[in-house]
Amino acid sequence: MKSVRLIICGFGRVGRAFAELVCRKCEKLARDYDLRLCVTAVVDVGGAAVCTAGLDVPGLLAHVRGGGAVEGFGPFGRPGLASREVLSAGIGDVLVETTPTNIVDGEPGLTHLRTALSHGLSVATASKGPLVLRFRELQALARAHGARLMLSAATAAALPTLDVGLTCLAGAEVLKAEGILNGTTNYILTRMDLDGATYAQALAEAQHLGIAEPDPSLDVEGRDTANKVLLIANCVFGASLTLADISVRGIAEVTPADLAAARAQGKTVKLIGRIERAEGGVVASVAPEAIPLDHPLGGVRGTEKALTYLTDTMGAVTISGGKSNPVGAAAALLKDLINLSR
Ligand code: HSE
Repeated sequence: MKSVRLIICGFGRVGRAFAELVCRKCEKLARDYDLRLCVTAVVDVGGAAVCTAGLDVPGLLAHVRGGGAVEGFGPFGRPGLASREVLSAGIGDVLVETTPTNIVDGEPGLTHLRTALSHGLSVATASKGPLVLRFRELQALARAHGARLMLSAATAAALPTLDVGLTCLAGAEVLKAEGILNGTTNYILTRMDLDGATYAQALAEAQHLGIAEPDPSLDVEGRDTANKVLLIANCVFGASLTLADISVRGIAEVTPADLAAARAQGKTVKLIGRIERAEGGVVASVAPEAIPLDHPLGGVRGTEKALTYLTDTMGAVTISGGKSNPVGAAAALLKDLINLSR
């Protein structure tokens, strides 16, 4: 059986959901993939928990749920131990990065990724900041050290945007992509449109469901969608866009009157992320658009997301669905780890 040693950096909602999933899927991983995932370290803000033979993950989760800190986990707790030391100690094969998205300077995730990749560890990451800011640098670092960089969880998570674009559409020219890439805004627009909920009420519900970002302005201002658009453009379209290249408008100005006017024309308003090949390069944007109800994206409701790729040889390919919550993100990390080990 193949055993892969994991170092988890960040133990918030996604990190914990991932740890729970690794425990829950242990038998399936062994049976179906001949794979054992062994968590040798978890690093959080105050330090780490380390056990080179493999941490007792259910025990650590119970300790943290009871209000304990990671670095206070019995004899395995290491108060003050920094991620850089853990990642360079030769006790892991893959970094699982789940620290919060920071698109100002990408930290602390950027340092985690640079340290891991430069020590030959592959990375599965849910954190968008480092990728949005430094994708080409990190990709080059991975190549130089024989490591791999897996970013499904940062790119709409349970919706397999990159797997479809890179693997399933291999050989086709991807000409255009348009999608609903943020569950929070789609939930808000759906609740306002179909149920007459207010914007504030629907946003509060999305927060309660755990799908909104800790800072929900990232969702409603369209910036989370822009991050995903950028990653899809740079991975699938081979572009080298930065956030400054993407025009972004969120949903804050969408009124019940706009929704009613769209509906009267057989349309519905969605926050659409768009990527197109144009003369001189790849162009990307994020904005609310009224789209026909019978459009492939028109029936995507609630927390669901969707993406349509338009190709030269395979026609239009639409994927939709996928959980937007921490379990969906954790499942995308797990998928990347399984695919890394194949
Ligand atoms: N807040 C995001 C969403 C989930 O609502 O889709 C993480 O990207």
